Amino acid sequence: MSDIAAPTTATLTTERILKVRGGCVLRGDVFISGAKNAALKAMAATLLTRDEVVLNNVPMLADVLSMAELLRAFGAEVEVDRTQGRVTVQAREITRTSAPPDLFRPTRASVVAAGPMLARCGEVSFVMPGGDKIGRRPIDVHLRGFERMGATVEQTGDVIEARVDKLRGARIYMDYPSHTGTENLLMASTLAAGKTTIFNASAEPEVVWLGHLLNRMGARISGLGSPILTIDGVERLHGVSDYIIPDRLEAGSFAIGAVMTGGEVTLHDVREAHMLPLTEKLMEVGADVWFRQDRMLVRSGESLRSVDIQTLPFPGFPTDLQAPFTALLTQVSGVSRVHERVYEDRLRYTSELRKMGADIRVDRIGNASELLATSAEVHGPSRLRGARVAAIDIRAAICMVLAGLVADGETELEEVHHVDRGYENFVEKLTNIGGDVEDTVPNV
Ligand code: EPU
Repeated sequence: MSDIAAPTTATLTTERILKVRGGCVLRGDVFISGAKNAALKAMAATLLTRDEVVLNNVPMLADVLSMAELLRAFGAEVEVDRTQGRVTVQAREITRTSAPPDLFRPTRASVVAAGPMLARCGEVSFVMPGGDKIGRRPIDVHLRGFERMGATVEQTGDVIEARVDKLRGARIYMDYPSHTGTENLLMASTLAAGKTTIFNASAEPEVVWLGHLLNRMGARISGLGSPILTIDGVERLHGVSDYIIPDRLEAGSFAIGAVMTGGEVTLHDVREAHMLPLTEKLMEVGADVWFRQDRMLVRSGESLRSVDIQTLPFPGFPTDLQAPFTALLTQVSGVSRVHERVYEDRLRYTSELRKMGADIRVDRIGNASELLATSAEVHGPSRLRGARVAAIDIRAAICMVLAGLVADGETELEEVHHVDRGYENFVEKLTNIGGDVEDTVPNV
């Protein structure tokens, strides 16, 4: 199998500048893509079976292409059809249990290949995954879970090696309901001998969907969506063809943009239950939100008022919408508090927002060598002005673009590759609903 017109990660990450001109009102329809954070895990799950797995509605993002490379390094045949948004994987034989470090580093999701590899081959060697710089991101929960299932785990520098004859079912208590940690242990336990119970499991929609996908491949998982998961190990999993769930974070970003610019958008292919933590806050701000089947209509309100948010595991407010929502809070009347409780350092982007004139006061903790920002006070409304700003991470990038849409003048966003990692056809989708955005390559 081969890629159909697949660009390399390198061509996607060429440094460009996104120019955003202010004064836009977002109006129209947006078709939401498949969820990155579901697609990447589904791709890892393909390692659990010799059969062919067909994944549809896969967003064609840089992280998806990185994951395809990783699967190939383990010996899987991977076909990426960019036109159809389809990824077909057949891991008939696993030919290697390690892969070059550069294949693990571009994304955080690479870590979820470890569980399936350990379950299928009894061995895996990988390096600490990369991803956004939003604070320390240990994987102790994953590794302790593997050990509970009988594996020996050794770490030398950032290389981790895990080995086991055959994983066995275990009782695993997770100190924190880690999203990828739950996914890793869920996948590992599907082929373990006996019963596994995971306590304090993540209930993020992408985790729940992965569990259902595994069940459709022959796994026996119950309790999905609750903090206690039970997995009865099976001998083998089989192939499947499935559709990736819609991206609630992409939908949320456009919804926030509509409210912030005084606009109105209809988002197509959205799951109401996944949007709940955001829609409650949008209504509290003063926006109107309706759902009809798989569509979500968002309309900005006459006057927008301040609200407080604190990020928490689902169904708490999603950390991945914290930065875009903060952009909105700069435009509402009053003082809002933002409390980031998932990551220890995910407010760094506020210094970029301040360059645009936002009045944000950040509380810092720690010592002089390591100051971390966990909460902020946003005073609004602020008149923002265009500036040259950095994207910092996937979600902060969208925050800066949204701020640019309401700012006076032009905003120039650097590090555009962060947008490519998380948002499919972002510029096209935003332009279609009235955003004045241009993806440019500076003259060299
Ligand atoms: N944590 C630990 N030990 C662990 C695992 C996590 O202390 O073993 C801590 C982390 O340091 C962090 C918190 O727990 O402070 C949350 O981490 P979690 O493991 O839940 O996050 P993740 O699995 O690394 C995924 C998404 C993130 C998303 C979070 C929360 C993927 C590839 N990444 O990360 O997505 O923010 O869950 O839902 O699924 C993004 O898409 O922009 C993004 C960052």
